[in-house]
Amino acid sequence: MEFLPNTEPERQYWFMDRLKSMIAEESIRAGRDLTYYIQTFGCQMNAKDSEKLAGVLENIGYREAGSENADFVIYNTCTVRENANTRVYGRIGYLGTLKAKNPFMKIALCGCMMQEPHEVEKIRKSYRFVDIVFGTHNIFKLAELIYEKMNSDKKQLIDVWDSSAEIVEDLPSARKFDFTYGCNNFCTYCIVPYVRGREKSRKPEDIVKEVQSLADQGVVEIMLLGQNVNSYGKGLENKCSFAELLQKVCKVEGIKRVRFMTPHPKDFSDDVIEVMKKEPKICAHVHLPVQSGSSRILKKMNRNYTKEKYLTLVEKIKSNLPDVSLTTDIIVGFPGETEEDFLETVDVVKKCGYDSAFTFIYSKRTGTPAAKFPDEVPEDVVKDRFERLLTVCKAESEKAAAKLTGKTVEVLVEGRDEGNNGMLTGRLSNNLLVHFEGCDKLIGKLVNVKLDECKGFYYLGSVSE
Ligand code: 5AD
Ligand code: SF4
Repeated sequence: MEFLPNTEPERQYWFMDRLKSMIAEESIRAGRDLTYYIQTFGCQMNAKDSEKLAGVLENIGYREAGSENADFVIYNTCTVRENANTRVYGRIGYLGTLKAKNPFMKIALCGCMMQEPHEVEKIRKSYRFVDIVFGTHNIFKLAELIYEKMNSDKKQLIDVWDSSAEIVEDLPSARKFDFTYGCNNFCTYCIVPYVRGREKSRKPEDIVKEVQSLADQGVVEIMLLGQNVNSYGKGLENKCSFAELLQKVCKVEGIKRVRFMTPHPKDFSDDVIEVMKKEPKICAHVHLPVQSGSSRILKKMNRNYTKEKYLTLVEKIKSNLPDVSLTTDIIVGFPGETEEDFLETVDVVKKCGYDSAFTFIYSKRTGTPAAKFPDEVPEDVVKDRFERLLTVCKAESEKAAAKLTGKTVEVLVEGRDEGNNGMLTGRLSNNLLVHFEGCDKLIGKLVNVKLDECKGFYYLGSVSE
């Protein structure tokens, strides 16, 4: 192709073609293969974006390195909690020292933190050695950005978009996930809708096509991912509900397991429960963030459900899916949270008997409505509640894990665990791990394993004939 195409992803392939020879030349000058390293912070949404970025870097000739001592380093950042941002700056500083020693090194920053103008301003002023800054909406443009940077004398290239109209499909990538993007919920504590934009659903046929191609490459497990995955389908020309999408994905030959993350309790409809009941490929795991057990706080959080509604939903899920594992996210210390509110949260944890819970201390995020809410909870009170909550959650997960000890369950063998004498590692449908003895040919297969001993976060087991 002589001329730059004006459609995506063709444009990006045009840039990649040209970058291939530019990177090859650089590699000759360096006298070695050039390498890349991507550090992903935050959630699986970012992990997925990093796979796309890796796909582009590999396509143009970089090989993966095991550390930041590489020729192209990308930090894909998260901004969900304030301390995540603080930590990233220390690491960017470290990248600067590496770059001073490696004339071929390029540094790019992207991800949710870059959607915040004051953070980008800080990079522009104080971290001049960063080559490229881009956001969550133009991940697909990496090849173009590298090309632009290499063909200009700009010291730093900044390209952050407020939103994106389209989803660019068919870029090279080592993908495992499929999804909706963005979020329309506006929970008052959460910065995600501001940095990830509004919900967009990929077309079901594009998702199925990708899952089929992954299955053809030997992938057996698929995760459908979205900040609010079960509201999938909004804005699609041809209607498709989340339950229908699940069914379509399960039909793909070669796929053995289907997971999804993260459903919102307010959108968890009966048809999804029905599909989970009928379809053995869907893992018996529901991650259902509760955030708080107090209806009063839930209202202030704009979660659109009450404690009672949440408990009713959990009851419905558990009675229809008796083996289901239930996990959650909880925030402690939301503005105005009283001891009574907190005890409601503890009550929910006990009633739900979560298999595991991710607990967070409330972090004030500038730009969110809650940042202006009065009655901040004093730090020592929050810390105390957080510790108490951890104890309750730990007791519940131990109880849940113990229930399975002695049982034989189906496990997807993922590989060997270096830390456990090189035993095989498999994942239960409920997402927990089990280590057991066995031969390499079991890797990638579903096998029955007896769970002999519970070690908290994992089991020790043995293959059952
Ligand atoms: N403070 C603390 N925790 C937060 N989360 C999201 N925003 C905040 C915040 N401002 C938590 C929620 C969410 C998880 C991914 O992170 O529990 O489910
Ligand atoms: Fe972090 Fe949220 Fe961005 Fe995920 S979507 S990386 S949790 S800020």
